[in-house]
Amino acid sequence: MAKTREEYTRANRVAWNEAASRHAAINNDELFEAFKNPDHVTFEDEILETLLRVGVKGKSVIQVCCNNGVETLSLRNMGASRCVGVDSAEEFLAHGRQMIEIAGAEDQVELIQSDVYDLPRDLEASFDIVLTTIGVLSWMPDLEAFFRILQGLLKPGGKLVMEEMHPILFMYEPGVDGDKSSIQHSYFDDHVWEETTGLDYYGGEEYESQPNFSFMHRLDAILMAGINSGMTLQSFKELDYDISFFCSDLEDSPTKPPLGYVMVMENGKS
Ligand SMILES: C[S@@+](CC[C@H](N)C(=O)[O-])C[C@H]1O[C@@H](n2cnc3c(N)ncnc32)[C@H](O)[C@@H]1O
Repeated sequence: MAKTREEYTRANRVAWNEAASRHAAINNDELFEAFKNPDHVTFEDEILETLLRVGVKGKSVIQVCCNNGVETLSLRNMGASRCVGVDSAEEFLAHGRQMIEIAGAEDQVELIQSDVYDLPRDLEASFDIVLTTIGVLSWMPDLEAFFRILQGLLKPGGKLVMEEMHPILFMYEPGVDGDKSSIQHSYFDDHVWEETTGLDYYGGEEYESQPNFSFMHRLDAILMAGINSGMTLQSFKELDYDISFFCSDLEDSPTKPPLGYVMVMENGKS
């Protein structure tokens, strides 16, 4: 039976918390060392270029679904004046706070534990930039409400910068044992995905986990949710490389699909 929005996000919070120590075991020593350098940034090429074009220096920025906050901290290293990261998984945020302390960035970077559908009201209309990066939209049971929340965080004229997996990628299943990734699902398949094999996408290890629930949103639904929220599309770029490492072999496929995108929306009607 379908769950409520709260039931989905509550279950996902448990599943994400469960994954935190696994991600930390692989990444944190290196990240802790890297963030001793005040210039360290972790963004992929296209999103970095987009953030530089939009301009981060001196801006107030919020990253929604920031995970362990490495990108929120990167925004501070790029010169943002106020950096807020929000995530529901407190275990990841605890690792982020350690990194912020190592970087000496406590005065500029704040991590807030909250379900995105239940954000503190005092964040509204406070930011020049709202950032979401790879792997956020598929955790959102209610896309229209999600975009209304992102729009509501922006000052008038503020920018949403979003980096995501391309929805076409969700048609594929990754190849196993050297096989190629292949199309297994309809683009229009909108069932809720329930998984119990964990979220260890760094280690690649499957483990018996609490169930997590994800949602494959189509491109038309994503764009219209942004536009319906009161934002205007400023730029949209499809990527020919796999920022998710979900089906990286497709990068070399002669029938390569778009693998990701970076888009910018502006708060306000043109
Ligand atoms: C794939 S990770 C995003 C990682 C991000 N691109 C990064 O590199 O840091 C997705 C994050 O969304 C968070 N999340 C999922 N549903 C959420 C919700 N309803 N409210 C707040 N955070 C949520 C998870 O806890 C997880 O940290």
